[in-house]
Amino acid sequence: MLIVNTIEQLRLFLTAARAEGNSIGLVPTMGALHEGHASLVERSVRENGTTVVSVFVNPTQFNDKGDLERYPRTLEADCCLLEKLEVDCVFAPSVEEVYPEPDTRIFDFAPLDKVMEGIYRPGHFNGVAQIVSKLFMFVEPDRAYFGEKDFQQLAIIREMVRQLSFNLEIIGCPIVREQDGLALSSRNALLTNEQRHTALAISKSLFSSVKYAKEHTLIETKQMVEAAIAATEGLELEYYEIVDGNTLQPVTAWTDTDYIVGCITVYCGKVRLIDNIRYK
Ligand code: PAF
Repeated sequence: MLIVNTIEQLRLFLTAARAEGNSIGLVPTMGALHEGHASLVERSVRENGTTVVSVFVNPTQFNDKGDLERYPRTLEADCCLLEKLEVDCVFAPSVEEVYPEPDTRIFDFAPLDKVMEGIYRPGHFNGVAQIVSKLFMFVEPDRAYFGEKDFQQLAIIREMVRQLSFNLEIIGCPIVREQDGLALSSRNALLTNEQRHTALAISKSLFSSVKYAKEHTLIETKQMVEAAIAATEGLELEYYEIVDGNTLQPVTAWTDTDYIVGCITVYCGKVRLIDNIRYK
């Protein structure tokens, strides 16, 4: 496995890979890798002759400086895992390499970026679009892999690909959970044992809401999840929205559309956790 830090080294590697007739799979990450990332990487390795994993904590997508500073950085352990997964190349650039000058591009993904994370993390998706579009330009992958845990991010990346006519396939991969249900996240590493236990109430309330939804209205189901989180000491709900899975706009009745997803963001102490569940 090759580890490169510059765009030039990356391009040299990719030219050789393409000359061998390999398709290129890209898995963009911010490192602190876990089984969720591993599932994306395994799929890319299965589906492509060459897999590139980028490891880059992108400063432009953090609207909170403390969050950026706290974000776990574990490049050495990440590379060990990626080597075992038979990744061909890790691209781990510096901030200066990616942003030799400030990226002033402004994206507009309305209405997708005007709800949920778009409200609570202003500028976040603009930063995501900046880095992901750059990675697509550096790597020119045939396929790029993203987790469905970041449900809104996935929708926005698909929209960016459409708007900018990138010639690649976006593959969304299912959420990977711990056995007890907690959605895997790099941020879980920041939880104490006690918080880790408290955080379980998030997935538990989502799972029980699916059953509850069968006999209750959408509004009642939303209130049930909100109440379950409010009743858990140590958790603070930022939002729970039940939305149309395509437009991400809130829906008010189960009959409004045939693709409905509940998206939640909760603070467990200072750690911001997100999760989602599909109702139909
Ligand atoms: O989902 C993430 O880890 C990041 O938002 C991504 C897509 C790697 C861009 O920095």
